[in-house]
Amino acid sequence: MSARPQVARTPQELRELCEGTVAFVPTMGALHDGHVRLMEHARPLGRTLVVSIFVNPTQFAEGEDFGQYPRTWEADLERCAEAEVDVVFAPEVATMYPHGTGDQVTVDPGPLGTILEGAARPTHFRGVLTVVAKLFGLVRPDVAVFGEKDYQQLTLIRLMADALCLGVEVVGCPTVREADGLAMSSRNRYLNDEERQLAVTISQALAAGVAAGPQGAQVVREAAADCLARAGISPDYVAVTSPDLGEAPQSGEGRLLLAARVGQPRLLDNCAVTLGAVPEGN
Ligand code: PAJ
Repeated sequence: MSARPQVARTPQELRELCEGTVAFVPTMGALHDGHVRLMEHARPLGRTLVVSIFVNPTQFAEGEDFGQYPRTWEADLERCAEAEVDVVFAPEVATMYPHGTGDQVTVDPGPLGTILEGAARPTHFRGVLTVVAKLFGLVRPDVAVFGEKDYQQLTLIRLMADALCLGVEVVGCPTVREADGLAMSSRNRYLNDEERQLAVTISQALAAGVAAGPQGAQVVREAAADCLARAGISPDYVAVTSPDLGEAPQSGEGRLLLAARVGQPRLLDNCAVTLGAVPEGN
C-alpha cells in the first residue's frame, strides 16, 4: 500500500511541503477513477504532486447542490495514496475567501462563459475561474491537469492561464467512463437504479452523433438529439462546435457537447467528432 499523502490546510503548510517542480490536480473530492486518472497523468509531470480537495461555494448557484455535494474525505485520501499524491491541499472556505464569498475581485470568463453550461448556469464559470486562479496562486504549479469531461471548463481555464499570463501549463486528459459508456462523475451517485440505466443514453447519443460525422454538423446534432428524444430525455443543449468552442467547421475536427437532466441529476458529456466528407480511398 502506498504512503498516505501529507495534508495541508493552510497556504503556509502547503508551501513547506512543495519541493521542486509542482504538478497540480484541482478537485472537489468525492474522488472516482476519472480523478485518479488525472493524478496518474500528472504524477510524472512534477517533483511534487498536489491534489486540492475543496468544494467551492462560488461555483454553485442558489438552490444547487453545494450543501449536498458528496464529501468522502477518508476514501479520497485512500485514492490519493493509490496515485502516489504527495500533498492534499484541503483549505477551509475562509482560507480561500478571506473577505467572504461575495469577493469584489473575480475572474470574468468573457463571452465563452455565457454559452452552453454558462447559459444554464450564468454565475458558474466566474466561480470556477476565480477559485482556480486562487488555487494557482497558492499552489504555484508548473503544470495543472484537468479532465475533458468538463470540456468548456478546460477550455476556459486554458484561455485564462494564457490571457492572465499565469505561467501554468494546462493539460487536458480524456474522459474516463463506466463499462457501459457513462462518463464518471461525482454526481452519478445521485442517480437511482432506473435513472442509472437511462443515463447510458447520454454516451449513446454522442456515439450516434459521431457516426453521422461525415454528413456535417447539423446532422450530427440531429442524430444525437434524436437518440435522446427516443429515450424521453429532453436536453438543455446539444451543440456541435469547433475544438475551441467556436462555430463548427464544414469539415475537419469538431466537438459534440450535451447536457441533460436524467431525473434530478444534470449530466454533461462531450466528445471529438470528425465532420464532413471522408476523403475518397478511406
Ligand atoms: P471536479 O468535478 O471534482 O473535477 C475535478 C477534475 O476531474 C476536473 O478537471 C474534471 O474535468 C475531472 N473529471 C471529472 N470527471 C472525470 C472523468 N470522468 N474523466 C476525466 N476527468 C474527469 O471540476 C471541478 O471539480 C471543479 O470545477 C474545479 C476545477 C476543482 C474548481 O472548483
